[in-house]
Amino acid sequence: MVVKLVHAQRSSHALQILLDADDARLARPLHHARHDDRGKDAEDDDDDEDLDEGEAAAGTGNRESGAGNGKGGFRHLHDPAARARVRLVDGCAMEFRAGLDGGMHGGDLCKTGQGVDHSKAMSTSPAPQNLSLAARDLAVVWHPCTQMHDHETIPMLAIERAEGAWLHATDGRRYLDAVSSWWTNVLGHRHPRIVAGLKDQLDRLDHIMLAGMTHEPAVSLAEKLIEVAPAGLSRVFYADNGSSAVEVALKMSFHYWRNQGQPGRTRFIALSGGYHGETIGALSVTDVALYRATYAPLLFAPILAPSPDAYLGEIGESARDHAARRLLDMRALLQRHAHEVAAIIIEPLVQCAGGMRMHHADYVRGLRALCDEFAVHLIADEIAVGFGRTGTLFACEQAAITPDFLCLSKGLTGGTLPLSAVLTNDAVHAAFYAEYSAGKAFLHSHSYTGNALACRAALETLAIFNEQPVLASNQVLSAHLGKRLAALADHANVADVRQTGMIAAVELVRDRRTREEFPAAERRGLRVYLHGLERGVILRPLGNVVYFMPPYCVSTAEIDLMVDAAIEGIERAVA
Ligand SMILES: Cc1ncc(COP(=O)(O)O)c(C=O)c1O
Repeated sequence: MVVKLVHAQRSSHALQILLDADDARLARPLHHARHDDRGKDAEDDDDDEDLDEGEAAAGTGNRESGAGNGKGGFRHLHDPAARARVRLVDGCAMEFRAGLDGGMHGGDLCKTGQGVDHSKAMSTSPAPQNLSLAARDLAVVWHPCTQMHDHETIPMLAIERAEGAWLHATDGRRYLDAVSSWWTNVLGHRHPRIVAGLKDQLDRLDHIMLAGMTHEPAVSLAEKLIEVAPAGLSRVFYADNGSSAVEVALKMSFHYWRNQGQPGRTRFIALSGGYHGETIGALSVTDVALYRATYAPLLFAPILAPSPDAYLGEIGESARDHAARRLLDMRALLQRHAHEVAAIIIEPLVQCAGGMRMHHADYVRGLRALCDEFAVHLIADEIAVGFGRTGTLFACEQAAITPDFLCLSKGLTGGTLPLSAVLTNDAVHAAFYAEYSAGKAFLHSHSYTGNALACRAALETLAIFNEQPVLASNQVLSAHLGKRLAALADHANVADVRQTGMIAAVELVRDRRTREEFPAAERRGLRVYLHGLERGVILRPLGNVVYFMPPYCVSTAEIDLMVDAAIEGIERAVA
């Protein structure tokens, strides 16, 4: 069910947290995380005048120097000469450390590097033990979905341990993982049952290729997935991440039609605002400009259908009516294009990366009917919304439909290991089943397909859903989350507060009456993110959409903490 607390006119959205290195607010040193109840207090209340190593390296020290001026701290890490020195110089750790302090206190790394014997250094490997983890990281790791330059002023969080909903950093602080580590960690970090299963599995079998061989976890997992998935799905094809699963579904659908003597079905219908991953095929059916625009020349062009996103409906139009209207658009597209279309791909109920945009289950139901009528496949990408996120184990259940392809990943392993699965039906499988010489086989493979450890983690995850009242307790948690967020419904800079199960989102705008957006360049979401860090909460807004997608082990008190942090962050962000 889409809970619409506020409704006005349309807005576009930018994906990813927008990090603003020039924002004066970033100049404020981050204070230490504060926590309400559990475990040790993460506040660093040392009174010494020196920065802790973690503070210095992360640029988060609360002293006069540090990242606050946007000049010290990290800048030298991005100077190629300095980076080279970090890698090559014998004793580089100490030199770098000196450079870091120099940077933090207005000095210059180049000066502190003088006098080092580089010729000697060339023959020795780096000895980075004395560097903080964050500093070592910034010298060598290129992070996903990140403008690395941003980390000249924004701390790189170095996490050494995770438990339940909490991430523990090397500097003693801890952070509530309000976004389940990119939506993967549905049951909380290091769930004891999954950990025990993995340890047991490691003692038996780690990994084998899945061609010509099989193993117990792969078979049991396929059996269990078929048991819990919508009726009619009877075959499981494994891959190893979400994008790969989407590639599999697209190729399999196209290939099905080809094997059926319809090679002209080469196109796909995708929804505006949809996101299906970032490999070339998955990105082709993605409609989020931030990711797609640059690579457009490399991508194939889907037929784009307008999204049933309730936020985009006319003023006064219900989510259900908007869904009905968008189904008419889809019908018109199919009337023109069905003969050349292999499949329609959708994120059922919630378009997540596109801004946590939600639609009525009627749309998914209607889409299934249209696919049947026009004989095209339906691909349900439940990579983000599967495993209880929307209130049911799979989102398709709320529309009472079975897709032709169901793509699963993320929560499949409880967020412990990469794995994905594409479930399909007997009819699709049969279209590939023939003498080898017929050339009908699906010759698609990934080295880690059906990895035994990942399959075991997935089996334990399913066992937890089966044996514990996860979905029932989520109802209590999601009701609490919705109640707390209602406080934002009338906020002058909030155009929409929406929720589907354990996903809730707040749409920030400059003016709620007109839905005028904040320009993306202002990076308002970043301010919320930074305030979250101060409060010890990982919020990672999608542009101007602040959202909550916590692990299901979160308590109501922890929900209060993340909502309080977000509300405060929003106040600062819109000021
Ligand atoms: C709906 C959806 N599909 C596909 C993907 C891609 O998954 P991965 O990042 O594992 O490639 C994502 C990732 O966020 C997603 O949300």
